[in-house]
Amino acid sequence: MCGIVGYLGKRRAYDILIQGLHRLEYRGYDSSGVAMIAEDGELNIYKSKGKVEALEHYAQNKDLSGAVGIAHTRWATHGEPNDINAHPHFSQSRNLALVHNGTIENYTVLKEALIRHGYEFISETDTEVAVHLIEYIMHKNNCSLFDAVKEATKRIIGAYAIAVIDRNNPDQIIAARQSSPLVIGVGDGEFFLASDATPIIEYTNKVVYLNDGEIAVINRGKELKVYDSKSTSESEIHITELQMSIEELEKGGYPHFMLKEIFEQPRTLADCISGRISADGKSVVLSGVVEHKEKFLGANRIIIVACGTSWHAALIGKQLIEDFCRIPVEVEYASEFRYRNPVVTDKDVLIALSQSGETADTLAALELAKSHGAFVFGICNVIGSSIPRATHSGCYIHVGPEIGVASTKAFTGQVTVLAMMALLIGQMKGLVSEETLQTVASDIRRIPTLIKDIFKLNDKIQDLAKIFTYAHNFLYLGRGYNYPSALEGALKLKEISYIHAEGYPAAEMKHGTIALIDNDMPSVVIAIKDKVYEKTINNIQQVKARGGKVVAIITEGDTIVSEMADYVLEVPQISECLTPLLTAIPLQLLAYYIAVNKGRNVDQPRNLAKSVTVE
Ligand code: F6R
Repeated sequence: MCGIVGYLGKRRAYDILIQGLHRLEYRGYDSSGVAMIAEDGELNIYKSKGKVEALEHYAQNKDLSGAVGIAHTRWATHGEPNDINAHPHFSQSRNLALVHNGTIENYTVLKEALIRHGYEFISETDTEVAVHLIEYIMHKNNCSLFDAVKEATKRIIGAYAIAVIDRNNPDQIIAARQSSPLVIGVGDGEFFLASDATPIIEYTNKVVYLNDGEIAVINRGKELKVYDSKSTSESEIHITELQMSIEELEKGGYPHFMLKEIFEQPRTLADCISGRISADGKSVVLSGVVEHKEKFLGANRIIIVACGTSWHAALIGKQLIEDFCRIPVEVEYASEFRYRNPVVTDKDVLIALSQSGETADTLAALELAKSHGAFVFGICNVIGSSIPRATHSGCYIHVGPEIGVASTKAFTGQVTVLAMMALLIGQMKGLVSEETLQTVASDIRRIPTLIKDIFKLNDKIQDLAKIFTYAHNFLYLGRGYNYPSALEGALKLKEISYIHAEGYPAAEMKHGTIALIDNDMPSVVIAIKDKVYEKTINNIQQVKARGGKVVAIITEGDTIVSEMADYVLEVPQISECLTPLLTAIPLQLLAYYIAVNKGRNVDQPRNLAKSVTVE
């Protein structure tokens, strides 16, 4: 949700800022902007509604000089996407420029006070108060930019990662963070600043993750300094070496990141599994679980909090953990959990499931559970992100950067980690026999190869997509382990094609939704050979009897459903609890090709952003 970039060093800042904005565009693409202190000392701010390309076009032939600057790509929260509301925002004197990711909750109060002091606001954003407030404090206290930012952070309530530059000091950037991510890259005589490490990796692999309540002072030719905003103390700096490669951030010949990420799944799941299942397939090793064995074994229940696709993976995790560990599991929307008064005790384990590790609601939900004494465990993808840093323990899914806004490889990575966790905890509880563990663990290891087989359906799915591109509504039906798959299939289609789709437990359909079925309402039914297979067949017949078209995802060799459904997509046989890992693939591809046929911007669908760091 908004991305910020900063640079201070020896190169032309503009080039680094623009490249960084492209890398962060997945976080929001309503508008973008850059601010640089030019060679002649001017503070140049260029902003444009729309994508970074529009900004590049606008900035052509302008003064792009200067070796210090900040930049922003916006996902609009306060004020419509237009040039004025785009960041960077500048102060009344036009000496300061500021970019912000997050939301300032008390901005109306601050704004009113600043207006009384003669400040004029030109945008509708919450951010503009921050830059005026900092300037107001600088003038009133006759203090440095650092002191003013420090004072301002005491008055601002909300979430922010900010970076500020001052026209009178082209050798400095001040940055601060509270609940929104900020990473500083430390190069040779140069510094990079970004919402995540992706804009930094091509210049340096040495990064410092700023913690909540910290302020960074970046000075040309000097060492990076980080301070705690609430005290006068200097924080110790921990430099992390990034393992990410630049190739992971490129499309690698695919037309879209989403397609690349779908096709990457055999490799990403192999990485996710690597080193976690022993060679003889008799044990699972997840050190974050093993080290806190007593918490899992003593848990009265497990609560999984998540949003969106991660919430769907959590629903599969619930079934896995309940099946293998006999521990009750509750799956909660993080956004609901955090504002209820949930009953949480120190006998609960809370799992925060999040690809980005930055989702504001998930982060707040885990903090709430922590404050009630629960043991909190994170399952995330982005290394060093806020959730892993706020949890007692956890494990990464290790599927590499996911850049397409629609989550694909992270979903299968999450389900794979949850399956391994369920096996491990079940084994530690003495509920999973060696034989069961070996069967399921060896099936987990087969998943990458089986997914490669499913890719043979690619052309067939492309043809199928042509038939259904003009449907206005879709129903996705599934049961048991594949009920969440139906929800996820529907979400994928909705978010990238803008076709209305509803995921439903197949048997629930007859309690109301069946009224929608007619010739124009295709149903995608996941009808694999599981323990409710016969029941699902009944549900297909109910759809067919009302003239509905059925696309069925079936187990290889199933002739019964093949004869009944209008179109079938076969996936290989596997342990029932792992079937969502296979059925996900045709669902992802179907959504992708329909969206492409409709001419949608698959990687950056309208109104969405990858990392939802606001409420
Ligand atoms: C859908 C999608 C979103 C995310 C959700 C949670 O394709 O990507 O629904 O799953 O915003 O994000 P994370 O997992 O980063 O917490």
